[in-house]
Amino acid sequence: MAFSPAPVRSAPLPAWPDAWYVVARSSDVARGRIVDGQVAQRAYVLFRDSQGGLVALDAHCPHMGTHLRTGEVVDDGIRCALHHWTVDRDGVLQAEPGCARMRSRTWPVFERFGLVFLFAGTGTPPPRPFAELPDDHRWLPAQPLLLKADWRAMLVNGFDTQHMRAVHQRELVRPPAFSRSRDGALCMSYETRILPGGGPSSWLIQRLARGRPHITQTCHGPTMLVESRLGRFESRAVFGLITRGDSTVAYASFGAPQGGPLRWMRLWLTRALYAAFLRKDYAVVEGMRLMVDGATDPGVRGISDYLRTLPELDGDGHAG
Ligand code: FES
Ligand SMILES: [Fe+2]
Repeated sequence: MAFSPAPVRSAPLPAWPDAWYVVARSSDVARGRIVDGQVAQRAYVLFRDSQGGLVALDAHCPHMGTHLRTGEVVDDGIRCALHHWTVDRDGVLQAEPGCARMRSRTWPVFERFGLVFLFAGTGTPPPRPFAELPDDHRWLPAQPLLLKADWRAMLVNGFDTQHMRAVHQRELVRPPAFSRSRDGALCMSYETRILPGGGPSSWLIQRLARGRPHITQTCHGPTMLVESRLGRFESRAVFGLITRGDSTVAYASFGAPQGGPLRWMRLWLTRALYAAFLRKDYAVVEGMRLMVDGATDPGVRGISDYLRTLPELDGDGHAG
């Protein structure tokens, strides 16, 4: 009897890679407001200091652990609700004289594209996503979306070239090209042909791109940049995915070149076209249980192999 070995199972894709996460839109963190959240099991609070700069701290007061979302922003810190001492922007607790010096950890944070990026690891942060991108676009962040789906399924879907025909009524003109950016991000470029039956947005793209959109996608862990060229119409989109409970929050910001009399129209059109495209993806990814071992699609294999190179968050942020 022939021996048939059990199929080899690849290493799992990381649940919480050691990476920058999009955790809010810049506009969500208004001055005086405290925004809280979690990356893996690490809880943080976010606020703006008196200069408008973003500060991210451990969520719990270093004195006795009160959650700082119940506190109040004062000058450059948060005044804790329980004893009214202040945790300053450096995480130092401004306690009464004679008390031991206590401090909490500050989290690396920055904002770009109208989004807030946060690093939850305890080591050196990886390079900032899309740092080489020139600042020549105007950005319009969208309302974040909560979807009952695994973020990895959503990300892998973005690289799955085989679903183009079934879901988006497009086909690839040639196999996709892969490369790595200098900072290790995965890039995939491809050109598609629009097929009939894709609805009004496909019709419009057909007119703009003469049927051949060029797309480049760059993935930095749970964040992705999409650059698309439809004829002379260029646009960009930045996405950030983060797990919340058994769902994923999808942040998105859309960019179009600055200047020109039609700049706002271009931006609104970019957002509308992406929204129409993504609605189709979200409808099929919802509830999906991702399995990539049997996939033959080069995009799915490429993104899966890339994700496996990312370490999980260290220490107490490890999702297990
Ligand atoms: S618990 Fe925050 S000041 Fe005491
Ligand atoms: Fe898709």
